Amino acid sequence: MRKKIIAGNWKMNFTPARAAEFANSLVNTIDDAADNVEVVLCVPYVAIDHVQYELDGTDIKVGAQNMHAEDKGEFTGEISGEMLAAMCVPYVIIGHSERRKYYNESDTDVNKKAHKALEMYITPIVCVGETLEQRKNGEVDNVLTQQTHLALVNFKTEDIPKIVIAYEPIWAIGTGETATPEQAQAACKKIRSVIKHEFGEDAAEAIRILYGGSVNPSNANELFAQPDIDGGLVGGASQKLSFAEVVKAGQANA
Ligand code: 13P
Repeated sequence: MRKKIIAGNWKMNFTPARAAEFANSLVNTIDDAADNVEVVLCVPYVAIDHVQYELDGTDIKVGAQNMHAEDKGEFTGEISGEMLAAMCVPYVIIGHSERRKYYNESDTDVNKKAHKALEMYITPIVCVGETLEQRKNGEVDNVLTQQTHLALVNFKTEDIPKIVIAYEPIWAIGTGETATPEQAQAACKKIRSVIKHEFGEDAAEAIRILYGGSVNPSNANELFAQPDIDGGLVGGASQKLSFAEVVKAGQANA
């Protein structure tokens, strides 16, 4: 049985003080709901310790939104996996479509970062997903096959359950337009079948695949009820107190 993950991605929002304040309010609404699902808040780097402080003693985990693939060196402005590990960060988002788009992250970069994250005992949440144009052209399966394959190059079968994939169709991110439960299920099932083909049935059954893209309290239940959707990666709705409702939807479908 795969434990669901409800992950928030705060993106570039909240100063450290505001992040702490929000985390403090959120914890009162979702702590109880967090028993049979994993709840993770991926916050800006500068807010990690503030939010960790607020969530101390709860089951809610604090993750990061990106990391560099190298341990150290002349990479001005970057943060390494080693640094995140030193801050006891258990999850990191890798290859979000905004990073692929605005910072030219390639599938090779995504693969390198995912390897480094695992080496640091940090669970990578690896994002894949098609553009609207690719969907219109009927390329969804090809894009997902290619991105999933390239993200997982050179991993061993036993590593696969330690990785999380997030299916985030680019056209559904921040647009208010959500994939239908059927579209999201079909995509997550496809990703699982690619993993089965490459790593076998046990690995495919163990890996968690999340859906992301305009998840909110009204659509979360139906999305999380799909057999191949193991939770959500939530942007805008994770920055509101009603995120608790999304967590509850995860719990109801645990
Ligand atoms: P929204 O939930 O705001 O669409 O963002 C999704 C996302 O990009 C999560 O990583």
